[in-house]
Amino acid sequence: MNTEIESAYIVLESRNPAAVNTYLGEVIGLMPGAPTPGGAVTWRADGKAQRVVLAQGSANDATCIGFEVSSRTAFDGVVTRLRKLDLDPVPGTAAQNKERRVAEMVRVPAPWGVEVEVVLGLENAATPFKSAMYPNGFVTGNQGFGHFVFGVAGADAYEASRKFALEGLGLKLSDTLRMPMGPVELKVSFFHCNARHHSLAIAQIPAPEVPQKLHHINFEVKRVAEVGAAFERALAAGTPLANMLGQHENDGMVSFYSIGPDGWQVEVGATGRQITDNWNDVREYNRISIWGHQPPAVFAQMQGLTVAAPAPAPETV
Ligand SMILES: [Fe+2]
Repeated sequence: MNTEIESAYIVLESRNPAAVNTYLGEVIGLMPGAPTPGGAVTWRADGKAQRVVLAQGSANDATCIGFEVSSRTAFDGVVTRLRKLDLDPVPGTAAQNKERRVAEMVRVPAPWGVEVEVVLGLENAATPFKSAMYPNGFVTGNQGFGHFVFGVAGADAYEASRKFALEGLGLKLSDTLRMPMGPVELKVSFFHCNARHHSLAIAQIPAPEVPQKLHHINFEVKRVAEVGAAFERALAAGTPLANMLGQHENDGMVSFYSIGPDGWQVEVGATGRQITDNWNDVREYNRISIWGHQPPAVFAQMQGLTVAAPAPAPETV
């Protein structure tokens, strides 16, 4: 299995970082990291120094994602491929490298509207990862820290994003999704770069513009029980949910989606399908989930119908 490149981190900008920090720490259950030299808050999901970087700012969205490569050869390979697409990856300054806690990087704007940083040498944290909420830790290792899903509007941005991911970053297509959404169509491409089913997905949103670039960040945990516990934490905290518990058809993940204070979502899931060598199951799916994942309103309607249905009258004798 090729593990030359993996999802490394996401950088978020928020007008109200305090609320986002509470959500990431108390509901999602990440571990606080050390602040960056520039004063951004960081969060950990494993032994790496930072997986989520949260800065004060007006975007209320992701501004950047990082992919870590495993060697100088792999790093040079990505740079060469990006240049072949007529892109101009710019080396990070010493200050930018320190801020990201990496040895080296190049930055390039991605067609889905955020900067992509390709990095070498993301630092380890000074202390081991420890979380009372996830005693077994997150699924990371050589699968990167999770996945990101971004939305784009229009076929041109979708095709440009696919090209950037496949030909620029060198990711591989896992499979695709195409399904009607109202009078229009939702299309999603899922990309892998190691055993994780997808490290990145790009959705062509059936709307003239995307309200937010980042749709969700995924954190994979080792046991379904830990997904259930996270779901209950979200319920107890009154965190809005986008989708109840369910299981995706393509990656098999049992998960739920909660909505962070800035509108982007976090998926906590387990049982993700693994990509195998010589992946040859590049299918087009026509539904997102095998079961569940209803929006709460749909779930309530279903439950309401059940509750409202009159109980059968008892037999009188
Ligand atoms: Fe996801």
